[in-house]
Amino acid sequence: MSNQELVENSQWDAQLYESKHAFVWKHGASLIDILSPQKEERILDLGCGTGHLTNKIADAGAVVIGIDNAPTMIAQAKKNYPNLQFIVADGANFYFDEPFDAVFSNAALHWMKNPKPVIKCIWQALKSGGRFVAEFGGQRNIQTIVTAINSVIEASGYPIEEELNPWYFPSIGEYATLLEQQGFCVSYSTLFDRPTPLNGNEQGIHNWIQMFGNSFLSVVPPDQRSKVIQKIEHKLRSKLYQDSTWFADYRRIRVRAEKEL
Ligand code: BEZ
Repeated sequence: MSNQELVENSQWDAQLYESKHAFVWKHGASLIDILSPQKEERILDLGCGTGHLTNKIADAGAVVIGIDNAPTMIAQAKKNYPNLQFIVADGANFYFDEPFDAVFSNAALHWMKNPKPVIKCIWQALKSGGRFVAEFGGQRNIQTIVTAINSVIEASGYPIEEELNPWYFPSIGEYATLLEQQGFCVSYSTLFDRPTPLNGNEQGIHNWIQMFGNSFLSVVPPDQRSKVIQKIEHKLRSKLYQDSTWFADYRRIRVRAEKEL
């Protein structure tokens, strides 16, 4: 897929994201402590979504630019924070003339299936001595959900096509190695479970699959999708539904790496 196609296909539903999935950026707020933005530092927020964490970084006095490959998210970010700079750009193919003190990324890198060009762009965007701080889905992230989606799709007679899985969930070892191969010094990395309550009570997992898992469902005729989601829901209920709340079995990587002088 070309970069242009990538950008055009990234029609995220920014309204649904804002109203039902705010937990995505709220959980990332503590990542800003690891970033520790300083006044007047130049910081890039890679995969900024609707701009809420970009704004928190700006609150610390940094000069921040948010980029995202989804035009709908960038349009919403500009509406939310008209005084900040947001640009539509592909995480695997971006370039800035003026280098940054830090690149920050929350809950975005797992959407970029080819990590090497992303890491290369981050490296090139940083000043010598700059830092990269990120959180994203790690190895076995949402394993319960993905297993249920695949098993229902298969049992319903549709093919499982690996290329329809839109995510990259590496182990710490794999990701740290890629960073080191690029030249980074990895000073911190961790992998941890974060079972995450989904908004919408009874509708929680349905909303989540509609928002994030629709590429898996593209092999299912549109008029059958709702039935397939109901079956997935049924399969997941005993594992991920508790006290009227659905949980996603999120597992995060956090990493900090330096481009040494
Ligand atoms: C995540 O934040 O881990 C995530 C969100 C949506 C889809 C897949 C993973």
